[in-house]
Amino acid sequence: MAVALIVAAGRGERLGSGSPKALVTLLGRPMLHWSVDSLRSVGTVTQIVVALPDGHLDGAPEGTIGVVGGATRSESVRAALATADAADVVIVHDAARPLASPELFERAIAELERSGCDAVIAAVRVADTIKEVADDGRTVRATLERSRLWAVQTPQVFRRTALERALAAPAAVLAAATDDAWLIERTGGVVRVTESDQANIKVTSPTDLRVAELLLAERVAGGAVAPGGAVAPGGAVAPGGAVAPGGAVAPGGAVAPGGAVPPGGAVAPGGAGR
Ligand code: CTP
Ligand code: MG
Repeated sequence: MAVALIVAAGRGERLGSGSPKALVTLLGRPMLHWSVDSLRSVGTVTQIVVALPDGHLDGAPEGTIGVVGGATRSESVRAALATADAADVVIVHDAARPLASPELFERAIAELERSGCDAVIAAVRVADTIKEVADDGRTVRATLERSRLWAVQTPQVFRRTALERALAAPAAVLAAATDDAWLIERTGGVVRVTESDQANIKVTSPTDLRVAELLLAERVAGGAVAPGGAVAPGGAVAPGGAVAPGGAVAPGGAVAPGGAVPPGGAVAPGGAGR
């Protein structure tokens, strides 16, 4: 049995949409709903708690529990955990990663159970060469050994006792944490990576939002973008290839920009959500 915490209480300043990032429309629905959908498909998840900005608790999707988040990401995790039911396994996920698949959540949970460690985190091998610079911020000091480097994402899956202990850290430590696994590491816990997918991007900038929309459209339509691949200027994607600029839609799987996609796949421009 597992509980899932989705942190969605950030302001989204770098996206600059004027509203909380997790509630920004992504392919016709609030971004947060895509993660909730994936988690609903994971059999062991019995409860989903969502940390939201103050004043936005009505953004909690049906069937989830909304709580007010904190001033920092880790404080939002702590607030959500305090509300969650008892369960041995806790999944923490950023609403800013709407492309996390049910299989990724399942793989992380399975690895936690198999390995007996304290936390399992989704991560991808680093493709770029990474260099460290000196205090002047420009002079290269070292080139890191790439084969050992992983770029870390969410989901991150924890044994509840380990996460509770880690989150008992002072506020300054919590504020310095860019992920929860680091809080486990600094208290001596064992953290393992599970290989994730480059498509599990974090939406930070307006460009990321467009990329996420494209990837989601492809997934929802049930296929890859056609070779020679029709992608309309407005962002529509059709697996079969046919795309009308401006968002008109071909039955059989095209996706309207800003338009929602019902389970069957046919789409109305600007159409209704599911
Ligand atoms: N988050 C949160 N509570 C906070 C800060 C962040 O729940 N006090 C969540 C965000 O909603 C997001 C995730 O943590 O799902 C990762 O944070 P980030 O991508 O930095 O999102 P924002 O903080 O919203 O964006 P920005 O830093 O650009 O303001
Ligand atoms: Mg932030």
